[in-house]
Amino acid sequence: MSIVSEIKKKLVEIKVNYLKKAQYKNVLENLGSNIPQSDDFKNNDLEKCFRQKNVHTENNVITDRIIQAYNKAKKVQKTLPGAFQVGNEWLPIYENYMNDIIIALNTLNKADTNKIYENFMREGCSVGLHGLPFSMEDNFFNGKISRLNGDIYLLDSIYRYNHWKELTANQYQVGDLYMPDYGNPYGYYINNEFVRTGAEYFHYYATRISELIKGEKGRKVVVELGGGYGGLGYFLNKVIDDVTYVDFDLPENMALTAYYLMNCYPEKKILLYGEDDFNEESISEYDVIIMPNFEVLNLPSGKADLVFNSYSLAEMSTETINTYITELKRATKKHVFHVNHTIKSNSLKADEFGIEDKDFKLVSKKPALWNLGRDSKMDEFEYLYSK
Ligand SMILES: C[S@@+](CC[C@H](N)C(=O)[O-])C[C@H]1O[C@@H](n2cnc3c(N)ncnc32)[C@H](O)[C@@H]1O
Repeated sequence: MSIVSEIKKKLVEIKVNYLKKAQYKNVLENLGSNIPQSDDFKNNDLEKCFRQKNVHTENNVITDRIIQAYNKAKKVQKTLPGAFQVGNEWLPIYENYMNDIIIALNTLNKADTNKIYENFMREGCSVGLHGLPFSMEDNFFNGKISRLNGDIYLLDSIYRYNHWKELTANQYQVGDLYMPDYGNPYGYYINNEFVRTGAEYFHYYATRISELIKGEKGRKVVVELGGGYGGLGYFLNKVIDDVTYVDFDLPENMALTAYYLMNCYPEKKILLYGEDDFNEESISEYDVIIMPNFEVLNLPSGKADLVFNSYSLAEMSTETINTYITELKRATKKHVFHVNHTIKSNSLKADEFGIEDKDFKLVSKKPALWNLGRDSKMDEFEYLYSK
């Protein structure tokens, strides 16, 4: 590297550090927080938080099913209009990070697919799915965590944990946040117990959903659009006894969700795309159904107790959002529940989704404060619409 480019790089680093410090100061002032003095913060060992935790999962049957479902889905997706293609904020993620997993899945390469998935949360295939910045690789995974980055990470983590405790009125223990380690998770420690990053968020929404639908008759049906890697799906199956969880996602993330949930729940009946018809009957027969996004068109009408979306719709194009909202409203018999950006969106913002109509009324809208420990200007709100 020439001296000029080295100086330029250094200057960018100085600027980024300056902005981060200012943001950290802002967050602390805004929260009026004493988290950095707390035992949970002080006793966390960052090296341990980011220590390798890969779980070995060489299950050829699972990998084969995932690869088959993915390739069938891609074949159909290619023939469909723009609303069902990857777009808007997700296009750069696909272009910059997803290449390795797309090649592995496309070439039916079970060994590579499995190897990538055994490391998910620290791989391109999961960028954007665990709520943390894309720069995790440079700043955390290489073993050299700066004091400032470490402080920002721990403030955010302990804030989220405390927020979960507060929202759930202290009725759960840290052990309730347990998630199987599939992939290569990082997280934080509370009283020496590992909490996978994001577990509080998934657990909270699973318990909220469970509360909202507990009065509904018979087997519960919860539909999620854009379920990430399956974190909410994992907890829904844990906290609701008799539930069918149906997730729709772009084929690449659909494949990852299938990997996580099939490993977490080997005993459950899980339907992947193309293995059986997707209809009303399958919804009453399977525990988990993981479908490509366009199959939302085949969701039976009025069968879901609740449809959920989080950190997802406001990142899509207007055409895609309109298509999904129409289908999700058609599919639910009771609730539409979502958490999305109200300002930071370059298409429709959460208030503009057009959910309210003669059938659906806005029951509550409140700030979803999960990211306040890292961003004092966070703009996410949680919306519940019911019939
Ligand atoms: C930021 S992640 C959020 C994941 C999860 N809901 C959460 O809150 O942690 C966005 C999710 O939306 C999905 N997504 C993005 N564009 C989509 C599209 N056009 N159709 C369906 N899902 C899409 C992504 O694949 C991903 O699962």
